[in-house]
Amino acid sequence: MSNHLIAPSILASDFSRLKDEIEMVNNSKADWFHLDVMDGVFVPNISFGIPVIASMKKHAKKPFDVHLMIVQPERYIEDFKKCGADVLTVHFEASTHLHRTLDAIKKTGMKAGVAINPHTPISAIEEIMPYMDLLCIMAVNPGFGGQKFIETTYNKTRQARTMANSVNPDLHIEIDGGVTIQNYKQLVECGANVLVAGNTVFSSENPVRTIEELKK
Ligand code: DX5
Ligand code: ZN
Repeated sequence: MSNHLIAPSILASDFSRLKDEIEMVNNSKADWFHLDVMDGVFVPNISFGIPVIASMKKHAKKPFDVHLMIVQPERYIEDFKKCGADVLTVHFEASTHLHRTLDAIKKTGMKAGVAINPHTPISAIEEIMPYMDLLCIMAVNPGFGGQKFIETTYNKTRQARTMANSVNPDLHIEIDGGVTIQNYKQLVECGANVLVAGNTVFSSENPVRTIEELKK
């Protein structure tokens, strides 16, 4: 039996009913909340930020997996700690001094994640892999929910798990974007152990049951 984690992406939820959506996740088999922060510079979209996350924290009963799609993410580490992030993920492509950034995240007590865009090869993160708690492999170009899964992600996930087995055996490998009922099992087989799901969960008729399905 696999014990992978499911992290519903709130970006796909109905923001006018945010409290209800949070309670749905609380009462489901989901493990984490996945929160996408976008700045309109690193990605061509703007989502939500620190005050919204702080408000969500009052109702949420599961850890916050915060995915920063922003330039110079090192400027906001303390702010995201204060508003309730438990895992803080920055983009490889957005942080020039990534080793220092990961160190600063871990010093606050948060887990440190690195996200890589579809064009970034696993070989590029070889040196930094020992220092991360989580690797987020983007299976779509970041910026929007509901996009089509990029098929080369399977191979990339296998490569990442092989590398992690030798340099960082406890590494969480998360897949973000285009995860569906059709592809989640194969991703777990390739070595992923955290699956983000936005539209698959929130556009389904019964989100609680869909989460349960993704946990199987
Ligand atoms: C994309 C975000 C994803 C997104 C996933 O930039 O990082 O977390 O919300 O949404 P789906 O699962 O609908 O592709
Ligand atoms: Zn994300």
